[in-house]
Amino acid sequence: MTTPQNTPSVTHTRLPEGKMPELRVMPAPSDANVYGDVFGGWIMAQVDVAGSLPATRRANGRVATIAVNSFVFKQPVFVGDLLSFYANIVKVGNTSITVCVEVYAERNRLQADVVKVTEAQLTYVATGPDRKPRQLPPLDSLISQG
Ligand SMILES: CC(C)(COP(=O)(O)OP(=O)(O)OC[C@H]1O[C@@H](n2cnc3c(N)ncnc32)[C@H](O)[C@@H]1OP(=O)(O)O)[C@@H](O)C(=O)NCCC(=O)NCCS
Repeated sequence: MTTPQNTPSVTHTRLPEGKMPELRVMPAPSDANVYGDVFGGWIMAQVDVAGSLPATRRANGRVATIAVNSFVFKQPVFVGDLLSFYANIVKVGNTSITVCVEVYAERNRLQADVVKVTEAQLTYVATGPDRKPRQLPPLDSLISQG
């Protein structure tokens, strides 16, 4: 397994307390380049999935990704890092839901060695069976469903 070495000014942190990650995934060697750094496109795919989960719950149905508003790879990701993807809705419109996704890596599978590796903001649109934008349901209709 590749050991992270010479990574630029790493600030070690902790996993966010009291929050549940939407996804926890460990990249495999096939997800990395020959230097052992995980492909940005692989991380983007996981971020898209993680962000779609709260959006799907808010839309109470299918959503489509319409935009990646921002995406910052703050630190490299290595094969064997345990990645946690935290996603929070930051804005809701008529049909759209904007989600902030933050990704933390537990290096060497140790919770003591945690680095924030990625932060992104994506917008999803609730869609109907015709794949056209659909009005979001009122919030209280979701709560009443339990
Ligand atoms: C998603 C899709 C159905 C939306 O249809 P559309 O006619 O383009 O959407 P609209 O112009 O009516 O905009 C819908 C919402 O998206 C928002 N939106 C549009 N462009 C946006 C952009 N570049 N960034 C952020 N939000 C955007 C609009 O403000 C609107 O939000 P609101 O209703 O909350 O005000 C259509 O664009 C589509 O099918 N795109 C392809 C999706 C896809 O394949 N994604 C990858 C796989 S999931």
